[in-house]
This record gives sequence, structure tokens and C-alpha cells, in this order.
Amino acid sequence: MKNIAVIGVGYVGLVTGTSFADMGNRVICVDVNEERIANLRQGIMPIYEPGLEEMVRRNVNAGRLLFTTSYADALNDPQAPADMVFVAVGTPEGVDGEADLRYVRSVAETVAEIVDHPVIVVNKSTVPVGTGDWVADIVSHKQPRPVPFSVVSNPEFLREGSAISDFMNPDRIILGSLDRSAAEAVAQLYIPLRAPIMVTDLRTAEMIKYASNAFLATKISFINEIANICEALGADVKEVAIGMGYDKRIGRAFLDAGLGYGGSCFPKDVSALTHMANVQGKHPQMLEAVMQINADQRRSVLLKARELCGDLSGKNVAILGLAFKPNTDDIRDSPGIDLARMFQEQGANVKAYDPVAMPNTARVLKDVKLCADSYEAVDGCDVVILATEWNEFKNIDLVRVKKLMKLPLFIDGRNLYDPATMYDLGFVYRGLGRGYGKPVTNGGAPQTWQSWGSWNSGVNREGK
Ligand code: NAD
Ligand code: UDX
Repeated sequence: MKNIAVIGVGYVGLVTGTSFADMGNRVICVDVNEERIANLRQGIMPIYEPGLEEMVRRNVNAGRLLFTTSYADALNDPQAPADMVFVAVGTPEGVDGEADLRYVRSVAETVAEIVDHPVIVVNKSTVPVGTGDWVADIVSHKQPRPVPFSVVSNPEFLREGSAISDFMNPDRIILGSLDRSAAEAVAQLYIPLRAPIMVTDLRTAEMIKYASNAFLATKISFINEIANICEALGADVKEVAIGMGYDKRIGRAFLDAGLGYGGSCFPKDVSALTHMANVQGKHPQMLEAVMQINADQRRSVLLKARELCGDLSGKNVAILGLAFKPNTDDIRDSPGIDLARMFQEQGANVKAYDPVAMPNTARVLKDVKLCADSYEAVDGCDVVILATEWNEFKNIDLVRVKKLMKLPLFIDGRNLYDPATMYDLGFVYRGLGRGYGKPVTNGGAPQTWQSWGSWNSGVNREGK
């Protein structure tokens, strides 16, 4: 059992603190956001994350999980002085794509000023390579009197929407430090998870996080590029991804073509890595292309809508899905939010619905009608854009949707639906990279989506 302080109670900090408490440690979480802490003390979660509320309640009731706004209480409780301080504050995108380290700096300064006993500072925030050394310098300079400390980098790989299960079943634990014994002390915490634990130096650990996120973002942009080529040539990118994925060297994961990556990590982390490379005089061509393709995917939806309904001014558009992915209420860099704004700029009337992200959306989208459900959103619409593949949308009553719409134009930004089914229901349907509709001459033989699609899905649409 260790005494752990977690600084920053957001997606990563709250899941980390609660999970360590669940593993039998005493955890005290500190945040500067007073409302967030007051709510947590009453059992009100600041974020939507499946399973989190119940796990927080259980550990609070067991006396292992506490919340405070006081660094002194979190670090220096005489009964339970913190052995380790996990830093999980935000590192948002700053100027020129550089990571903004103001919150990390503030934490380093405050810990230095307040902690009164030897401690290990463990950085979970995603930070540029070299930040661990910088944090160590800040702590040394700000301490009122020398107190021994070590800095360990322990990047986090959890995904929103499956955060607890990702934390509890990690593919690997990465620990980087110049102080091997400090890294090994942190490793002890993770032993119950039975995951491979890699101990390396600080800068390498920091780079592993960026390289991992950049690689996954690259996979997504790669399949989106393939999707665009599929669309032009009459192939179906969903089937292509399945076929590619059987190759163990490639794998099926992160090959879902669609609106591209959003969220609080991939966009800013690819930008930050690009910035780091540029500062060193390198030319990260592939990362630049990954970002460009991702931005183009969102715009491609606007182009498809224009293709289907001409001038968008005065058209009624429904956006289904505002969270950047299912099972979260996080709307940071969300394609759905971005598209709502893009359509508004074109003069369209936008209605929108998301199963859990409506309160967050209301804070950022103005002049968009926020609806109580999907059916209210699509009512009277010329075109519907599906932006997030929530389960709720998988089983939506498509017959009812079509009846409610003014025109049956449907753009599926996540390739959630079967083109053949949508076609049979009478929609004018566009996925991304589904290769339908356009007759293509390939080696002399004209092929259409209809001919291949019906063979593949077993749907006989002879004569249609
Ligand atoms: P978040 O924005 O959800 O939460 C950050 C919290 O830190 C907020 O509650 C904020 O009030 C608090 N905070 C800010 N300054 C503080 C200070 N000086 N003292 C105490 N608290 C302070 O952030 P997040 O999404 O949890 O991300 C945290 C870090 O983890 C980022 O570096 C991110 O890149 C990384 N990360 C995030 C995810 C994810 O899925 N969200 C996954 C892996 C890594
Ligand atoms: C990501 C990383 O996966 C995780 O390891 C890291 O710790 C935080 O950043 P997260 O942003 O929560 O996690 O979600 P993820 O499932 O990775 O999806 C990111 C974005 O990529 C979403 O917008 C998602 O819709 C998109 N995506 C994902 C695709 O477009 N296609 C895919 O095949 C997979």
C-alpha cells in the first residue's frame, strides 16, 4: 500500500487515482477547480466515463480515495505523507502547435514549495521530450530548503470511453527516469496489473508516448487516404481494412476510415511532435501529411453535402454525434462540432444531437438547435451527417428517419451503415470510401458499387 497524491482530476487524473485506490492504495486527488472537487465530494462526476462513478463511490466509501483543493493536505498529511505525486494536468496545444506547459510548470513550482519530505514526482501528462529534466530543474530551484526528490516519466495510454479497462489492462507500462530506484518503486505499484514493464530513461519514455500516438494517427490518415482512392475506383474501404487486418504485421485496429481523428490527444500530440522536430531543424514530412489528410477528411463531408444539395445556404442540416468518439462526453477537437460550425458558415440551419455530450456542446455552439433525440434532429432536414458512431445510432429507426426528413440525403461520416441497406431504404447515401455509385472503367471492364456490393453482402438488387 502506498500513499499517492494525484494532481489534476480530469480524464487521466480521476481514472488514475481511482484505479490506484481500487488496487488498495490510499489516494488523494487535488485540483485547482473548486467546483470540480466540491462535486466529486458529493459523488458528482466531472466527466462521463463508463463505470467510473461506481468505482469512485466504492473507493470513497472504503476511505481510500479523497478529493481536495489543498496541495498541503494532499502532499503532507502527517498520517499519510505522499510517497509519490502523479501529475495529470492538461498539456493543450499552444502557439505553433507547441505543447502549452503552463499547468505543468505551476504544479512543479507548487510541489517544490510545499512538499516537506522526500517524494517521487511521476509525470503522467503527455509532455515534450526534455520536460522531465525541466521539471527537475524547477523543483530544485523553487524548494525553500533542499528535500530529496526524483522525477519519473510514466506516460498514460488509456482511451476515453474505455479508460478504466485500459488502465487496468495495459499493453505495457513505460517508466523513464535517471533514478533507476525511483522508477522501480513506481513499477511496484503496477505489478498487480501483470503487464510488461519497461524501464528506460526520461527522454525516451516521453518520446514513446508521442511516437505511439503519432503512429496510431498515421494509421488513421493512411486508411483515410486509401478510402479516398477506394471511392474513386469503386472499392469498399471497410472490406479493404478487414482484408489488410488479417495480416498480423498490419493488424485491424485503427483502420476505421471516416471523419478522422479528433479528441484531446491525437491532434495536439501530432502537432507537438511536429513542432519538436521543426525546432530541431528536422522536416517531419509524414506527420505533416497525417495532419493534412485529417483536416481534409472533415472538409470532404462538406463537399459531399454540396454535391448532394448544391448551395448549402438555407438548407437544414442535422448532425448526429458531437462527442469526438462514442462513450465519452469530450468534445475537444470533435469532428461533429467542427462540422456544425462549417455548415453554419455556409449559411445552413444546423440541428444537432448527441447521447451524452449535449451540456458540453451547449457551452461552445451558438445558434445550433440542440435536440432531445435523433428524430427531433432529423425532422425536416435536407441532409443528415452522422459524425459519431454511438451504439444508439446503430439501431436507429431508419425508416422513421427517412420519413421525417425533407430530402433523403445521408452522409455517414463513420461508415456505420450498410450502403446496400441504406440504398434499399431509399436514402441517397454517402459513406467515406465505400466506392458506390460511380461507374469506373478498370482495365476495360466497367464496375459499379452495386454489382460488387450486392455480391458481397448477399443482397440481390438485380434490376435496381
Ligand atoms: P483534463 O483537461 O481533463 O484535466 C486536467 C485537470 O487538471 C483539470 O481538472 C484542471 O482543473 C486540472 N489542473 C490544471 N492546473 C492545475 C494545477 N496547477 N493544479 C491542480 N490541478 C490542475 O486533462 P486530461 O484529458 O485528463 O489530460 C491530462 C494529461 O494526460 C494531458 O497531458 C493529456 O495529453 C494526457 N493524456 C490524456 C488522455 C485522455 O484520454 N484524455 C490519455 C492519455 C494521456
Ligand atoms: C487516444 C489514444 O488511443 C490513447 O492511447 C491515448 O492515451 C489518448 O489518445 P482517445 O483519444 O481517447 O485515445 O481515443 P481513440 O480511440 O484513440 O480515438 C481517437 C480518435 O481517432 C477518435 O476521434 C476516433 O474516432 C478516431 N479513430 C480511431 C478513427 O477515426 N479511426 C480508427 O480506426 C480509430
